[in-house]
Amino acid sequence: MESKETSLAALRWLVEAGADEAVDEVAHDRMARHAAAPPGPGARSPKPAAPKLTSNDAVLASARDLARGAQDLAQLRAALDSFDGCPLRHDATNLVFADGDPRARVMILGEGPGAEEDRQGLPFVGASGRLLDRMLACIGLDRTSVYISNVLFWRPPGNRTPTGHELAACLPFVERHIELVDPAFLFLIGGTPAKTLLGRSEGILRLRGKWAHYQHPGMPRPIPALPSLHPAYLLRQPGQKRLAWQDLMALQAAIRSGRDPLLAG
Ligand code: URA
Repeated sequence: MESKETSLAALRWLVEAGADEAVDEVAHDRMARHAAAPPGPGARSPKPAAPKLTSNDAVLASARDLARGAQDLAQLRAALDSFDGCPLRHDATNLVFADGDPRARVMILGEGPGAEEDRQGLPFVGASGRLLDRMLACIGLDRTSVYISNVLFWRPPGNRTPTGHELAACLPFVERHIELVDPAFLFLIGGTPAKTLLGRSEGILRLRGKWAHYQHPGMPRPIPALPSLHPAYLLRQPGQKRLAWQDLMALQAAIRSGRDPLLAG
């Protein structure tokens, strides 16, 4: 039998590797998910089975069909709820769709839910969210005057970096989300949303602070998008807040002018 010290060392190692919370009372063998074992006592309500669609093309086609069929935000949320093609949903507690006012002029897109967001089913409600709230307050905005979502709708386990497949599976829903909200400005916080939506490969420190047009075939016009630094990064690197401040000032100026900064003379 393992000694207490060995178990504690293993636990410390897991926490350092990012597995910083227990998601259930007992350990689950995810590889045996489909074994025909009856649910044990205290089993959670059944989650959708693991993705049936095995080819990426089929997953993407299904995501596009579902997203395109959504005529409003409630339908888009329901479509995501029925979508089985993003593996992240099988380890997540909640779908994290959006918060704020969908009629707002600014739509903020982050990377993906963390532990607190996964628990509450709302974006940016953990430590990063508290910093985001303070950042928005600096330019006279709050959660009732912006609309907030992410480019992933489920939490990557342990907050690991999302895979290309996970991002691609969510992208048709993100694109439809932007189309339906039709904001005047996009504020893309972090490298993942900036690169995913603007089709760029540079790091966020190169992309930030530079307006770019987000355009998608279904949209009547391009939307000016400003990449900026993610609050989680700012919590680790507070010295970089001055760059985020410059971006917030640029966003505020654009909101006040009501004009596309890329077209304004
Ligand atoms: N980080 C994100 O990118 N999104 C959230 O919703 C929370 C933390």
